[in-house]
Amino acid sequence: MTTPPRSGSLSGEAEHDALSVRDLRVWYGTERGPVRAVDGVNFNLRPGEILGLVGESGCGKSTLGRGVLGLLPPGAKAAGEVRFRGENLVELSQKQMQSRRGPEIGLIFQEPMTRLNPLMRISQHFEETLRVHEPDISTAEAKHRALEALRGMGIPPTRYRNYPHEFSGGMRQRLMIALTLVLRPSFIVADEPTTALDVLVEAQIIRILHDLRRNFDTAMLLITHNLGIIAEACDRVAVMYAGHIVEEGKARQVFSSPAHPYTRELLRSTISLRTTGLHYIPGAPPDLVDAPSGCTFHPRCPDAMRVCPDQDPVEVYPTGNQRVSCWLHGPEDRIPEGGREPLARQEIDLADEA
Ligand SMILES: Nc1ncnc2c1ncn2[C@@H]1O[C@H](COP(=O)(O)OP(=O)(O)OP(=O)(O)O)[C@@H](O)[C@H]1O
Ligand code: SF4
Ligand SMILES: [Mg+2]
Repeated sequence: MTTPPRSGSLSGEAEHDALSVRDLRVWYGTERGPVRAVDGVNFNLRPGEILGLVGESGCGKSTLGRGVLGLLPPGAKAAGEVRFRGENLVELSQKQMQSRRGPEIGLIFQEPMTRLNPLMRISQHFEETLRVHEPDISTAEAKHRALEALRGMGIPPTRYRNYPHEFSGGMRQRLMIALTLVLRPSFIVADEPTTALDVLVEAQIIRILHDLRRNFDTAMLLITHNLGIIAEACDRVAVMYAGHIVEEGKARQVFSSPAHPYTRELLRSTISLRTTGLHYIPGAPPDLVDAPSGCTFHPRCPDAMRVCPDQDPVEVYPTGNQRVSCWLHGPEDRIPEGGREPLARQEIDLADEA
């Protein structure tokens, strides 16, 4: 085991980070109690770095992305630290956050039509977006910047005065990305940007992400179910389960030798050309109002041990480039006697019912 870097960090010194997230917690108030959708998350992003975020549905990926941007719905609360350009974004007011979003921080959603106004031409969308953040920009300059952004997305200038409904779904998605990029943000959260797109458009968007990084040093948190995209586009990958990042490391390393049983099971359940039979992880992610004790994955984990339901796993660094929260990797001195004995299925079921 190597010496751990600073807690929750795999990218070296804090001052070089584009973004640093420390102990971020986000919860939704509900009648049944708080839904702990993000429960003590740490990660860093360097300029030009793309971090992929994966995990089953309901594990808290979108909540994390929105929490970082201060874009939570009413009733949600956040605590912890999201450090960006010397400020803790969690402490900023909605108004202060609004002024940071756009020119500094961008967001790409899955649903393009929610941001495109059907009554406005594409040209008006670009002019309005640019004017909000750069009030003095001339119409000619706005057009120049818009056409440049559209060209980058493979949309011809002849479509500049079209309305959103005149575009296909894939084109609308690219339009929305162009609208985000026209402001040249230094950090972007992209939540499922290629879901529902065909593979050609998907490939095009991945190319754009690479260009962005190369040309503008843009850092990105890329949320996706598509592990192929992570492998293609991301430097590092973080695996999320029940509001926690359970493993993080270089994408290639995590994919070739996953350290956490959840990562391993998630990779096994992905369909590939070499897939011969379908594998699925038994059970479902837990109810985040009342998550299982200890390691929240223990009711589904094929490797569960006696220590797992009793104690929260500790973050360890099996290699200098990988961090994982799983008792399989120690630390040995925190595991009580007999703690490494396998947890019998019956014990897991009883623990669930308790
Ligand atoms: N507005 C809300 N009020 C209450 N609970 C919510 C709200 N939004 C999300 N949740 C809950 O928070 C948890 C995390 O949801 P989130 O949407 O972040 O998951 P996700 O990983 O993005 O899932 P998916 O892959 O399906 O997009 C889930 O248990 C969800 O039910
Ligand atoms: S801590 Fe235990 S239950 Fe959790 S993933 Fe590791 S082995 Fe499985
Ligand atoms: Mg989501």
